[in-house]
Amino acid sequence: MSNYHIKHLEEYYQVYRKSVRNPESFWEEIAEEHFLWRKKWDNVLSWDFKKPEVKWFEGAQLNITENCIDRHLATRGDKTAILFEPNDPNEGAEHITYRQLHHRVNKFANVLKEQGVKRGDRVCIYVPMIPELAISLLACARIGAIHNVVFAGFSANALATRINDSDCKMVITSDGSYRGAKTIDLKGIVDEALESCEGVETVLVAKRIHSDINMKEGRDKWLQPLLDAASDQCKAEVMQAEDPLFILYTSGSTGKPKGMVHTTAGYMVYTAYTFKNAFQYRENDVYWCTADIGWITGHSYIVYGPLANGATTVLFEGVPSYPDFGRFWDIVEKHKVSQFYTAPTAIRALAKQGLEFVEKYDLSSLKVLGSVGEPINEEAWHWYNDNVGKGKSPIIDSWWQTETGGIMITPIPYVTPTKPTYATLPFIGVQPCLMDEKGEELKGNQVEGRLCIKFPWPSIARTIWGNHQRYKETYFSTYENKYFTGDGALRDEVGYYRITGRVDDVIIVSGHNLGTAPIEDAINEHPAVSESAIVGFPHDVKGSALYGYITLKDVGESRNHDNLRIEINQLISDRIGPIAKLNKIQFTEGLPKTRSGKIMRRILRKIAEKDTSNLGDISTLLNPECVQDIMDNAL
Ligand code: PRX
Repeated sequence: MSNYHIKHLEEYYQVYRKSVRNPESFWEEIAEEHFLWRKKWDNVLSWDFKKPEVKWFEGAQLNITENCIDRHLATRGDKTAILFEPNDPNEGAEHITYRQLHHRVNKFANVLKEQGVKRGDRVCIYVPMIPELAISLLACARIGAIHNVVFAGFSANALATRINDSDCKMVITSDGSYRGAKTIDLKGIVDEALESCEGVETVLVAKRIHSDINMKEGRDKWLQPLLDAASDQCKAEVMQAEDPLFILYTSGSTGKPKGMVHTTAGYMVYTAYTFKNAFQYRENDVYWCTADIGWITGHSYIVYGPLANGATTVLFEGVPSYPDFGRFWDIVEKHKVSQFYTAPTAIRALAKQGLEFVEKYDLSSLKVLGSVGEPINEEAWHWYNDNVGKGKSPIIDSWWQTETGGIMITPIPYVTPTKPTYATLPFIGVQPCLMDEKGEELKGNQVEGRLCIKFPWPSIARTIWGNHQRYKETYFSTYENKYFTGDGALRDEVGYYRITGRVDDVIIVSGHNLGTAPIEDAINEHPAVSESAIVGFPHDVKGSALYGYITLKDVGESRNHDNLRIEINQLISDRIGPIAKLNKIQFTEGLPKTRSGKIMRRILRKIAEKDTSNLGDISTLLNPECVQDIMDNAL
């Protein structure tokens, strides 16, 4: 019997050792006993981090939707698979059973086929958090199309970039979306994006807010009538283990977003296995992850991981503040949620609102609390632990990335003793290490360095869509033979890991990764701007917020600076999305640069953090005089 469900610490250590000493036979056992294969693999793993190339379960054939849906029908046909909680609590929740999910996915898959989508085609999904979102992912997977979900808060420009980069022939969207008391004109954003996307032939539109929208003849089609007419039987396409399942974009420190490619078998095995253990999911539990499916957390731990385990997964359309700040807890009480997975930024925002919103509700169903997306600060950890978990639900501070596909470092609840702000121990099969600046591995405990992974795990992203060279340079070139995460971390005296944050030019704002380069590119498009530099600074709710130093072309620019600030933020909002707006904008006469012309962000970061006691030696700068000026006018 494989160790699919780990129940105590000794077992964790024993299974961990097994997974590291003999990864192939370990993962083979897990794959063999817990999944449905059309054909078993010829080879469990082949890998070479130099190329880089990783293949898991090569030769195997499967369809992930048969694992997430069909195989549960006999025993869980009437169990709720997706529990949809709408934006407006008065609308009432919708329970979609495994049998209904099967029908709906099949119908959707047939519609995709009728509309000309074939195996290997890319389909862009720009849909709010409604059941059609989860169903559209699964429908693509059913027929072997590669889904590219774009978070429905991104702007038209960001959407167009992602559609074009992966050459999508179809976009799935909705007329609009609800966000608390507001509505958003999603279809309008799609129309604008498609002005610069020649490859898109069809747009399927789900009806959600019943707004009056423009439908382009021949291109745009209402989804529902097509679904109504489609058969609810659709054979699953038999996929190869290493066929791409999806592309998901993540920001990089430079230029274009990176389309991370995840493949089928390894991703399925790893997300299912981590889900089972990191959340200690039991048959009748109701599991809720508050993330949006537009991010990796939603892909892996709202859709694929839970469904592969036959779980009930909550899909919440709304926001934590609507109709009031008690909404999360209202949902926990109403649906008797057992596992609750959210982001530190949400915890901090709710903690600010006072306890009355939490205390009103019965949270006794909760067994496990999760945190993901950024380091959780001590205060937020304790607030979560004391007021939501009432000191009895372990918090799993889970560290992972879009690129890793699944949770990498995490306590296993009721197994690993937790420690505030520590992600604690590597998950089964994960071999982390810390590197120093010279490229040497830091051995032993009580060390701090850059976090790398030494050995492939099944759900590692295989490439960047259309740019394998960039994949190699970004993740495998900093340290030889290791996957570099871009994060710093320390290992304490007992071997627990604490993630200290990004060490590159990515800033995490409210749990969203934002590369500085694309934001600076957007700002520099403003006709009055000469150059700009973005850094992060601590923010009590967002974790980090953005501080922009901007030099204008005409230093004596007579225009009102407040108006310029509004214009610049509007530009960022249009190019990337409102999440990338700057909290502070300081107009500068120049930016500190090295003699080779590189902007010294380290200095700018310190000034933004109001920590100017030790700026280091600035005399070697090309223009040291500008530093004082920036300090004098800091916001
Ligand atoms: O810096 C780390 C941070 O989020 C980054 C990955 O972001 P993304 O690809 O958007 O995926 C987020 C959800 C998996 C990481 O490089 N991060 C994620 N989880 C944690 C974290 N930082 C500290 N603690 C965490 N638990």
